[in-house]
Amino acid sequence: MTLSDAVSTRISLRAYLPDPISPEQVRQLTKAIEQYNARSGLHIQLICERPEPFSSLSKSYGMLSGVRNYLVFAGPASDPDLEEKCGYYGELIILTATTMGLGTCWVGGTYDQRSCLCHLAEGEKLVCVASIGHTPEERTGREKLIRRIAQRSSKSVAELASGLSHAPSWFMSGMAAVQRAPSARNGQPYRFVKKRDNSVQVHLTENTSFALVDLGIAKLHFELGAHGGTWTWGDGGTFHKAAEEKSCGAVIWRGTPGNHQYLLARHNGGHWSFPKGHVESGETEKETARREILEETGLQAEIDTGFRQVVTYYPKAGVIKDVIFFIAQPTGGSQHAQEAEIADLGWFTFQEARPLVTFATDEEVLLAAEEYLTGRG
Ligand SMILES: Cc1cc2nc3c(=O)[nH]c(=O)nc-3n(C[C@H](O)[C@H](O)[C@H](O)COP(=O)(O)O)c2cc1C
Repeated sequence: MTLSDAVSTRISLRAYLPDPISPEQVRQLTKAIEQYNARSGLHIQLICERPEPFSSLSKSYGMLSGVRNYLVFAGPASDPDLEEKCGYYGELIILTATTMGLGTCWVGGTYDQRSCLCHLAEGEKLVCVASIGHTPEERTGREKLIRRIAQRSSKSVAELASGLSHAPSWFMSGMAAVQRAPSARNGQPYRFVKKRDNSVQVHLTENTSFALVDLGIAKLHFELGAHGGTWTWGDGGTFHKAAEEKSCGAVIWRGTPGNHQYLLARHNGGHWSFPKGHVESGETEKETARREILEETGLQAEIDTGFRQVVTYYPKAGVIKDVIFFIAQPTGGSQHAQEAEIADLGWFTFQEARPLVTFATDEEVLLAAEEYLTGRG
């Protein structure tokens, strides 16, 4: 599941099971949180097995039940964009949690703020929190009732945007993702304007207490729906669509489905990942993956396109890149790292490889590959 898939499927969930979040899931989420904190200067934290902020019925107004884990959205009080960044990066983490099968709910009011203040460092401000954890497959009757009270249907695109005539398709898919954006009291207090030069501006239409958090969430949803671009912070911030690039590669494995190792490459930048590279003109995705594997590892490989995972990231400002990963097995050649790009190659078991891969998105690909292989074995 990609973050864009999570935009389509996620809803706020308010009733939680007592099952703890597994240590592996905690590690995976923490890795994503650390990367976003480093990028934003925020101090987002995952707090586990601490029900206090939600245990008093009077503070939670009975809205949330069984909450044992939560995300703290906080950062430097001196940051003029603190609220908006908490919305943007917080929603990134919430959508990541959705891809991992965890339930979440943004919480601005119905919790005890005081029991969260201990998580703040000096000079930091608490913006809001989110409950997180395992939820029942079937929603309880109570949850359905609260959802009917808490949720109005989202606004129409015409209510949320202007400049729609001759809007490019990426703008319309951006707005479809904005329609799915959660907001405090479901107010969606913003309006997007497509300009003649195809830049996009968004401004607040109401000055409610969490409007800037809502704005950050909406900006992220727009960016995911439009498939990449860059926002400037602030009410009235501008979006420029990114140029799109594509690479292909593969998770290479050897052995049997029950006993196998994965090939990881340490790129010259220092990060451990899988072999991959740019699509050249006229190539199919599979041809690119096969060529890149040969160039980077010296190995010939048989590609299985039955497994196809997409990782999306920004390699540099103004560019968005989709990397398509297949799964592959070596069939020949002789293993050697391509000097210009790869510092090291190594074979690792799943348990060794999982903590080694540098990016959280690559870890998700490895996890999916392991499920694919072991499900088949
Ligand atoms: C900043 C923010 C604060 C919120 N605060 C609360 C809250 O205190 N209690 C609660 O039950 N829901 C809270 N919500 C959840 C919204 O009610 C929910 O997102 C909205 O009803 C839309 O539902 P959906 O997320 O399922 O689409 C909050 C949402 C946001 C974005």
